[in-house]
Amino acid sequence: MQLADRLQDLPPYLFAEISRKIAEKRAQGVEVVTFGIGDPDLPTPPHILDALKQASDKPENHRYPESEGLPELRQAIAEWYMRRFGIRLDPEREVLPLIGSKEGISHIALCLCNPGDVALVPDPGYPVYEFGARLAGARVEFVPLLAENGFLPDLEFIPEETARAAKLLWLNYPNNPTGAVADASFFEKAVAWAKRYEVTLIHDAPYTEVAFDNYIPVSLLEIPGARDVSVEFHSFSKSYNMTGWRIAMLCGNGVVVDAMRRLKSNIDSGIPQAIQEMAIAAARGPRDVIAANNATYQRRRDRLVRALRDMGLEVESSRGSLYLWARIPPGYDSKGFATELLDRVAVVVTPGTGYGSHGEGYVRLSLTIPDESLEEGLRRLHEWASVRA
Ligand SMILES: Cc1ncc(COP(=O)(O)O)c(C=O)c1O
Repeated sequence: MQLADRLQDLPPYLFAEISRKIAEKRAQGVEVVTFGIGDPDLPTPPHILDALKQASDKPENHRYPESEGLPELRQAIAEWYMRRFGIRLDPEREVLPLIGSKEGISHIALCLCNPGDVALVPDPGYPVYEFGARLAGARVEFVPLLAENGFLPDLEFIPEETARAAKLLWLNYPNNPTGAVADASFFEKAVAWAKRYEVTLIHDAPYTEVAFDNYIPVSLLEIPGARDVSVEFHSFSKSYNMTGWRIAMLCGNGVVVDAMRRLKSNIDSGIPQAIQEMAIAAARGPRDVIAANNATYQRRRDRLVRALRDMGLEVESSRGSLYLWARIPPGYDSKGFATELLDRVAVVVTPGTGYGSHGEGYVRLSLTIPDESLEEGLRRLHEWASVRA
């Protein structure tokens, strides 16, 4: 069978590889503890599940949905943005529900890039930014996120010629995988830069509700003039423990939102309406689930940071996202270190190089691990550290 070149060049998705390794260990009877994927271990709140149960009885929800989503969902998302960020979005033109943000992230470059155009992608970064750009035939140029810059891209460092050839720039704060955060002044500079070079800014923002130490992340769309050049992806996945239901949204610049609507109307047939009703209940419902999640994640973050530092690992205490970005000990590379932990003590951490070459020297640990597993994982990591000492 002869497959298309674009698929042959595509490496397997990072977490598909990791899941395969875990399954292999489990088949050998090994109990694996995983700090791998960022998938909330806490259940979807009851009022959101109730909305699904009621919605499933309605015959109108048994039929094809409209690909642009229920008007009531778009309205509820606009209200959510207003309540959370003080931004007024037009639900007709500036809001588009998605089948999870991964779906939209993988498709958006098809709307913005002709083959050969430049897509600016952070390194390290969520792998789908790169893959989506490649599927669109764009030329990917990586923008390094360095510790000395607080893992923010140094936009002035992007060569003039590259900036002029670029059609889009991805941003993602609170950041996966580094846990870094960005304030309004960074976004202001990014908007000015994007206007100067006529580049669309795409802010992937699924972690704005996952924040600690009283830190409140901002939306890129809060910045005056941002909407002229920007869109923002948001998701119900992490904010409301809804990864399994697959629902998210794209908001912002009406031309880009309309392009995505047109593209997607030819690709999918929308989000099951019962799930859209769950998202309406989430968006209009209480925010106590967010506060409760953050208290849990913050407690786990503190426990993990202390334990990792006790083992001699260097790690920042992140103020947002679900991740800790830990430096690996000398004598290893990221993949070798992650492999050693899996082979020696059956603990999964994600090698930093899974997010790009600038992830070398780091591993990522997720906070979405139940407390007992976290304790067991730490016990094993201590065991590994004491054997090594
Ligand atoms: C940075 C980032 N963007 C997007 C996603 C996708 O989220 P979803 O497709 O569940 O909305 C993830 C998931 O882990 C992520 O870390």
